[in-house]
Amino acid sequence: MFICPKCHNSMTLPVCSCGYAVPFFNGIWQLSDAPDAVKTGDGDRYIGYEEIGEAYSGSRKYIIEEADSLAAREITELTGKGVFLDLACGDGCLTLPCAKNGTGIIAGDISNKMLGILKDRAQHLNIPLDNVTLCRINALNIPLSDESVDTVVANSVLHLISNPQKVLDEIHRVLKTGGAFVCLDDAPGEQDDGSEDNSHYFEIVNNLYNEYWELLERQGIYPKKYSWNFDRETVCDKLFASRETRVIRHRGKYKTKLSDHFLPRFLGCGFSDQTDVPKEVHEAVTELLMKAFRGRYGEDFDSLAYIGRYSDILITVYRK
Ligand SMILES: C[S@@+](CC[C@H](N)C(=O)[O-])C[C@H]1O[C@@H](n2cnc3c(N)ncnc32)[C@H](O)[C@@H]1O
Ligand SMILES: [Zn+2]
Repeated sequence: MFICPKCHNSMTLPVCSCGYAVPFFNGIWQLSDAPDAVKTGDGDRYIGYEEIGEAYSGSRKYIIEEADSLAAREITELTGKGVFLDLACGDGCLTLPCAKNGTGIIAGDISNKMLGILKDRAQHLNIPLDNVTLCRINALNIPLSDESVDTVVANSVLHLISNPQKVLDEIHRVLKTGGAFVCLDDAPGEQDDGSEDNSHYFEIVNNLYNEYWELLERQGIYPKKYSWNFDRETVCDKLFASRETRVIRHRGKYKTKLSDHFLPRFLGCGFSDQTDVPKEVHEAVTELLMKAFRGRYGEDFDSLAYIGRYSDILITVYRK
């Protein structure tokens, strides 16, 4: 079901009939030799997370979030005994709960670093990866045969690619007829009862973010953005035979400290809009800002917590 990187014919891992043996590093099949990221030039550009790596997961590294388990249940049901492609799987937030359910998975990402983190998480969480094929792949040119998978998810990646239409064409191509492209979005959940005041948290996050970009823009460095305005629904409605939606209820409150997720990611240059910021400039600016913020908001300002309510999960299933 894979496509040989050398002769471009269908192959089964590990060796193609043309004689090419797909390299296997650290448990990851190297099915693409495309760069980790392409940020300039006239061709298709994308932001792979090789540099972001450890900064991505924050304190969520060694947990499976309830929302991901709920979504995984739906994917497992849709996939049945077939194959689920987790495209741009990142640290495996969906692959891992699906693997726990026993689903057959191809987990692909352009970043070996992110795939390595997925493996670390699996080991730490004691989730066997027997049913998971980990591979380095480019979403713009998926190395899978036509009509070879039953479900695809491509979560939080289309905005990182300058040509998201091409990725959707690829997803459509690799799906079997009747197969499902599953999109997961937040839906309004339980209304906040106003008992929590998060204004101080937001004030700090907004100030930190705005002041960071003000300092960088003075040096001619701007946030990087691709495809934010891409209208997935219109493109998918044209491409797929049908669309159905449903909402999974996800109720309850959660608490997250600045030091849990936002700060490690922000300080680790882990937001995709930070991708063009040179490392030394980022370090100098964040050091300055952290000092200023400790003076302004107190030494332990990073322990400030946000208390929120979970959003429900909107599942959109496009059928080929
Ligand atoms: C924001 S993360 C999302 C990860 C995961 N799907 C999730 O929902 O948490 C984006 C992922 O897309 C990957 N990525 C970016 N461009 C890609 C491409 N052209 N092909 C495959 N993966 C890509 C990055 O390496 C990164 O792991
Ligand atoms: Zn071959």
